[in-house]
Parts: sequence; C-alpha cells; structure tokens
Amino acid sequence: MRKDILEYLLAHKGKYVSGQMLSDTLGVSRTAVWKNVSILREQGYVIESTTKKGYCLKSAPELLQPEMISKKLSTTCLGHPIIYLEKTKSTNLVAKKKANEGAPEGTLVLSEEQSSGRGRLNRFFLSPYAKGLWFSLVLRPTFLPMEVSKITLLAAVAVTKVLRKYKVECGIKWPNDILVNGRKLVGILTELNASMEKINYLIMGIGINTGITQKNLPDELKDTVTSLAMEHVRFKRNKLLCDVLVQLERYYFLAEKVGFDPILDEWKTLSCTLGEEVEVIMPDRTFSGTAINIDHDGNLIVQTSYGLERVLAGDVRV
Ligand code: BTN
Repeated sequence: MRKDILEYLLAHKGKYVSGQMLSDTLGVSRTAVWKNVSILREQGYVIESTTKKGYCLKSAPELLQPEMISKKLSTTCLGHPIIYLEKTKSTNLVAKKKANEGAPEGTLVLSEEQSSGRGRLNRFFLSPYAKGLWFSLVLRPTFLPMEVSKITLLAAVAVTKVLRKYKVECGIKWPNDILVNGRKLVGILTELNASMEKINYLIMGIGINTGITQKNLPDELKDTVTSLAMEHVRFKRNKLLCDVLVQLERYYFLAEKVGFDPILDEWKTLSCTLGEEVEVIMPDRTFSGTAINIDHDGNLIVQTSYGLERVLAGDVRV
C-alpha cells in the first residue's frame, strides 16, 4: 500500500493531493494514508501537508540504482554481480547464504535498510532506510586464514582514502572503525568461513553513515555516531559506492600481488589510534596504555606501565 501511495505522490510531485482523494483512489482508510506518509517521511521523502489541501511530495531521497552502478563501475571483480534489496535483516547474512550457494567472488549485496544490522562483538548496527551505504562483498581470497584480520585493515584503508578525497577529516580507530572527531562514521565487519589451511569465503560487510541525522539516532548513540550529512559533506550515494568499490579492489589486488606490508604502512599513516592513550577492553580484563604501533599481523601494540601488550582482538577506547 505504501508503494501505491508513493507512486501516486510521485506522479503528482510538487502538487497537493487530498487525503480523501488518496484514500478513495487507493481504497485505503485516511488513517492508513497518514500512517504511511509518516513512514515515507522517516525514509527521507519530504512531504508537506495541510489540513485543507492534503499532501504534497517535495523531494525524494537518492535511492541506490543497481543497474546504473553496474554500468558505471570500473572494477573487474568487486560489485559483479549486484544483489539489491530494499530491506533485509543484514546484508552479511544474505551474502553468507549466497556464498554458501556458490556466489562468485565479488558478489555485492546492497540494501537500502537493515532491520538487524550487525557489528563487531555482536553489537547492533543502526542502518535506516536510504541513510547510509549498507553492503557486503563475497570474497574468495587465496590468503591464509590467519591473514584475515589484515583484510579488515585493508578495507578501512580503502574507505578512509576515498572519504579523505571527499574532504572528510577521518581516521581509523584500531582495528577498523572510521571516526571523525571521535565519532563513528563507518563500521566494518568481516566474517570468515574457512578450514585450517584454506579460506572458503570471506564476507566483508561495510556500513557508511551518509544521511543519518541527530534525529535518527537513539540517545545512546547521539554522542558517538556521525554521518557525512552531519559533517556537512556533499556526496551522491551511488557515486560514493562506486568510488569505494574501486578503491577496495585496488587494495585487494595489491595485497594479492605483493602482500599486506604496504597496506599496513598506509594504515599507520591513516590511524587515529597510534600515539594515543587507550583503554583496551578484553573479555577477561581491561588495561590502559599508549597505542604505539601495529605489528606485521595487524595486532595493536600497547605500551603499558608494566611492558608491551599485543592486542589481537578486543574493544579499544581512545
Ligand atoms: C561495527 O561497527 O562493529 C561493524 C559494523 C558493520 C556494519 C555493516 S553494514 C553492512 C553489513 N551488514 C551488517 O549486518 N553489518 C555490516
């Protein structure tokens, strides 16, 4: 029904349509019209309303256009094919299912909205309709399973490089959050299916907050999350996605060709963790110190009062 209401409003864009007319034409109650208009507003449609004249669609959000992306994308692997969904629980879940069914390397699962977006350490990842780029890639790398954490660092480097081209002053918080002034702009979740010696597939899930506003954020995220819109950065979601895929592919091919060393070096230059006082929260203990480096495997090295600590996994607070 929402689709019908939207189509009607789109067909009369810029003109007022009375609630009664909508309800008669589409055979739904006026309350249902009102409820669906409220949802469309939450999705980013600007719909003005007055009691006398009804509803007027002023503008629509920029939706993702998979056909156009396919045509314009200059990658040879990443983003081919594209599976586009208007709404899903989590693109990582869909990508995993597709990978199990034999989806080729490079398959991109893309959604306007995730109802159960997932982050590291099983956290919820907010992914409202058309307010971000929520996507997952199926990768089938030839690396050893133990190198997988470095692929996550690679993703953070690629996305940071693109965002800096958009003049976003962002940095990478170990291992792979991208922050602006301490607030999270991008999250990356890599999931692995492997045996001891071989990666069967890897799902690289990336969430970039583009249009999220303070209004979209629950209280507990208000001080810790940001978006391109909140940072006053101009962007087009379709173009940004293409730019990110191109850069990801460049680094992915580089790692396959020469290994991760140059990428780890770049990670260091883009990091906002190194040189900072950090608190490291591990499942069994918490400690503080100065983050001084990452090692050859991408682990964080922290100088504490009692010596060096090597952090393989955990939550780091800067
Ligand atoms: C984190 O911040 O801990 C990682 C967040 C990763 C979010 C992305 S959005 C696309 C993909 N699907 C998910 O459910 N998660 C990742």
